[in-house]
Parts: sequence; structure tokens; C-alpha cells
Amino acid sequence: MPRLAGRKIIITGGASGIGRSTAELFSREGATLAVLDRDAAQAEAVARSVGGSAFTVDVSDDTQVARAVAAAAGALGGLDGLVNAAGVFINRGLMETGPEVWHRTIAVNLTGTFLCVQAAVPFLRQAERSTIVNIGSGVGLLPTGGGGTAYVASKGGVIALTRGLAAELAPSIRVNVVCPGAVETPMTEGTLRDTAGSVVPAIVGRYALGRPAAPEEIAAGILFLTSHESSFVTGISLAVDGGRTFH
Ligand code: NAI
Repeated sequence: MPRLAGRKIIITGGASGIGRSTAELFSREGATLAVLDRDAAQAEAVARSVGGSAFTVDVSDDTQVARAVAAAAGALGGLDGLVNAAGVFINRGLMETGPEVWHRTIAVNLTGTFLCVQAAVPFLRQAERSTIVNIGSGVGLLPTGGGGTAYVASKGGVIALTRGLAAELAPSIRVNVVCPGAVETPMTEGTLRDTAGSVVPAIVGRYALGRPAAPEEIAAGILFLTSHESSFVTGISLAVDGGRTFH
């Protein structure tokens, strides 16, 4: 029995990387999908490949989000799940973080997650066993942070937001956050590997498993938290990070 049979799910950031792998896995597990992304052409291509629908949206814009989520729920005929995978990564230290970088990062990663949840909850409340999975990051869990001032703050915010939502939306909606380590996606192109194509030793050395993740490995964690297999799990931060946070 597919683990998401009959489930109607929105995936933001579904045009690329982790969101795209999640769409492909969820489709194989029987879900009907709406792919929301600011990249219209790629969102269309992914939606076509998984038999779903695509909606163009900038998740940091409240009007666009309200419209796209309502349209997606309408096209799906309801809503059982939301995965917030849209995000941006600008790796700048404190003194190199201008207001534009700060505001954009918080607007997409943190405010975007909040806006999509707010727009989806009225639909999710009409379903049974509904779920929200946010995407944080290992950098939001590590005592040492790392990975850009605004980015770390945005992901710490997503983790705290998830806990607050899990308490507020229980028992009708379960809310969890997956915190990946480094994943090979377009977001990390040019940072994970050197010009010869080898994974940068300084990155791999921090991982107990000695390698970065494939996006499918993060999608597997998102599947667990979206499926009924995690029916007694809410408010957790699931580190899918090759042992980075304890190593
Ligand atoms: P990606 O760059 O491959 O995909 C991100 C997607 O989000 C793209 O399709 C992009 O068009 C979309 N997007 C960006 N801004 C948007 C906006 N304002 N509105 C709508 N869509 C928007 O990146 P990846 O790696 O798949 O990242 C997905 C999530 O995972 C992000 O939240 C990222 O911060 C997080 N993450 C990624 C890690 C990595 O090493 N790749 C590690 C830890 C967390």
C-alpha cells in the first residue's frame, strides 16, 4: 500500500533540489501534488513529470501566497499536507550582510514558511491526519551555527516557528521540521565540490558518514513525517545530516 495514497499535498520549492525529489517520491507513494515555486517553467516541468499541477508564487508575498495556495487546494480538491521547501542561501558573514541580503533571506525562508502555513491551515483543518513539514537546516541546530548570518537566523526561526505551530495546531495538524546537512542540489553547486569535482574535505570531515546527502535522502525524512507512520510525532526537528550535529 503506498504510504500517501489519496493524500493531496502542496510542495513549495518543488521545482528543484529537495522539493523536486520530494515531489517525485511522494508521487510514487500515491500522493496528488501541487508544485509551488517562483520558477514557473521548472515548476511546470516537475508537475508534468509527477502528474500534478504547478502554481507560480513568490512565497515572501502574502497576496501571491494566499492566491496560489487557494488555487492549489481548489485544483487538488482539498489539502492534506504542506511541505515548505522553498528557500534561498546567501553565504555572507555579519559585516558582509547588507540589509537587502538580510531582508530577502528572512522574507523567503522564515516569512515565506509562515505565510504558506497561514494560507494552508484553513484547508488542512478540513482534512483528517493533516501534516506540515518545514525545512530548517543543521546550521539552525548546531551550537556553532555556520553558513551565513542571515541564513542561520532564518533557519533557527523556522525551527522555533515549527515548535510554536505544533503546539498551536495540535491535535488536528502535526507540524515537524527536517534539518538537512549539506545536500547536493543546485543551491550548493560551486560550494560542495572543488573544480576537480571532489567534495571539499572541510565539509565532508564534519560528517560522521563522510559525505554530503543526495536530495532523495532528505525526501525520505520528509516522507516519514508526512505519512501516518509518524502519527505520534509532532514538534520535532529531524536532523538528516550524516551525523553532522553530533560529530
Ligand atoms: P534549490 O535551490 O535546489 O531549490 C530551492 C527552490 O526554492 C527553487 O526551486 C527555487 O526556485 C525556490 N524558491 C526560492 N525562492 C523562492 C521564493 N521566494 N518563492 C518561491 N520559490 C522560491 O535548493 P535546495 O537545496 O533544494 O533547498 C531546499 C530547502 O532546503 C531550502 O529551504 C534550503 O535552505 C534547505 N536546505 C538545503 C541544504 C542544502 O545543502 N542544499 C541544507 C540544509 C537546508
